[in-house]
Amino acid sequence: MKFSISAAFVFAAISANLVSARPLFQKQARQASTTPVGAAYFITNGASGNMIMTANVLPDGRLSCGQAVKAGGLGLAGASTPANGPDSLFSQGAVKVNQAGNMLATLNPGSNTISLFSIDPTNPSNITMVGMPVGSGGEFPNSLAINANGTQVCALNSGSTNGVQCFNVDMQLGLTSQPNTLRLIGLNQTTPPSGPANTPGHVIYSADGSQLIATVKGVPPMPGFLATWDVLPGGALSAAYTKSVPAPGGALPFSATVIPGTTAILATDAFVGASVFDFSQGGNAATSTIIPIPNQKATCWSAFSQATGNFYVTDVDSSMMTELNINNQTLAGTVVAQYPMAPGSGLVDLDILTINGMDYAYINQANVTSVQVMALTAPGKAQYIETFDVSECAAVEGVPLTAGSMGMTSFVIPTTA
Ligand SMILES: *[C@@H]1O[C@H](CO)[C@@H](O)[C@H](O)[C@H]1NC(C)=O
Ligand SMILES: *[C@@H]1O[C@H](CO)[C@@H](O)[C@H](O)[C@H]1NC(C)=O
Ligand SMILES: *[C@@H]1O[C@H](CO)[C@@H](O)[C@H](O)[C@H]1NC(C)=O
Ligand SMILES: *[C@@H]1O[C@H](CO)[C@@H](O)[C@H](O)[C@H]1NC(C)=O
Ligand SMILES: *[C@@H]1O[C@H](CO)[C@@H](O)[C@H](O)[C@H]1NC(C)=O
Repeated sequence: MKFSISAAFVFAAISANLVSARPLFQKQARQASTTPVGAAYFITNGASGNMIMTANVLPDGRLSCGQAVKAGGLGLAGASTPANGPDSLFSQGAVKVNQAGNMLATLNPGSNTISLFSIDPTNPSNITMVGMPVGSGGEFPNSLAINANGTQVCALNSGSTNGVQCFNVDMQLGLTSQPNTLRLIGLNQTTPPSGPANTPGHVIYSADGSQLIATVKGVPPMPGFLATWDVLPGGALSAAYTKSVPAPGGALPFSATVIPGTTAILATDAFVGASVFDFSQGGNAATSTIIPIPNQKATCWSAFSQATGNFYVTDVDSSMMTELNINNQTLAGTVVAQYPMAPGSGLVDLDILTINGMDYAYINQANVTSVQVMALTAPGKAQYIETFDVSECAAVEGVPLTAGSMGMTSFVIPTTA
């Protein structure tokens, strides 16, 4: 229905253009609306060469083709049942932007490397590799985090050698591995891993940067856990991690998103929907409460909208986005709304970008090589803006793009740029 409405709208717009008595006005209007205000990025995770696909973000939130840029290594898919599902890395955060640092980092799961790029802030689909890709400190890197001031990148490895490794950032020379940051998790895994059960899923910094938190999925009914290290002054990590397990009912902590104004995080849980992990009692051990999501099959990715104050989580198997509210005083969670996407689209990573005070969600529909754009106009009132088929952009660039692209991150052109 939405698609036929938008097709009718486009047809009407084209018809209006054909009979327009004001072609100059039409042309100016179109030029204005196609000037990018930002960019969105994901990786193809292609086995013959991993590429970063960039798309221009237009003032109304829509996308246009950007560039395809070599990520500096090879992609690799995890082994899953069913085989070659859209979630090829069992992870969130395969590519990340640091807005203030004009910086992007990504990983090459088939080469066990991570790479650093600078973002041209006036034309952010133009990214340039800085230095050379560096060893990830393990096998099958599938997630990474950049600290707030852009001085440190930490990678999460998920293969037979699994754990974290952090890197110092130099925007002239690139990444160098930091001493006292290689920390193993010690899961019994292979390279590539079999998953999604028993794999690490996402690495993030806590809101104040003092903790590094990695999710680890369990093997239901055996629960997974969060692994939390202290980030010490100078960037070293504490020697051992602290385990926090989900409350009964949870099993597969997948993504982690800070709950602003708290020391808690929202974690998706592919087994039950979501959970909150609360670190407020101090130290690295969190208590957990479960937030069941109706009709969920595999809720794995999460993002927060400053504009609506709500979280948006995506489900790869039900092709559903769910909006959650977490009360920042009580940490109680409620389901606000659910937004179905086209069946089989295979939603994976998402990111939220603020354009002129309005938040837009960019959702990687990895099974159909598309990005779904939603306008988060008000709590409970997200609007379907566009389903952008990236395969056309990839074809122009000669890039093979199949199901299994991963990650989603974005950059907004600073208004002073
Ligand atoms: C892309 O960025 C590089 C590095 O900042 C710059 O030298 C180049 O001119 C930019 N190219 C375009 C087309 O903007
Ligand atoms: C690791 O997993 C493999 C395959 O499931 C199993 O055969 C092996 O015994 C496990 N090793 C350990 C140390 O648990
Ligand atoms: C960046 O943040 C880290 C961790 O909070 C801190 O140790 C470091 O001193 C900061 N560096 C700069 C240049 O601000
Ligand atoms: C906490 O939630 C309230 C109500 O939604 C909101 O107004 C406030 O900005 C939130 N505080 C923070 C620090 O995010
Ligand atoms: C992905 O697409 C294939 C082929 O169209 C379909 O059989 C499969 O169910 C889809 N997977 C998901 C997770 O949507």
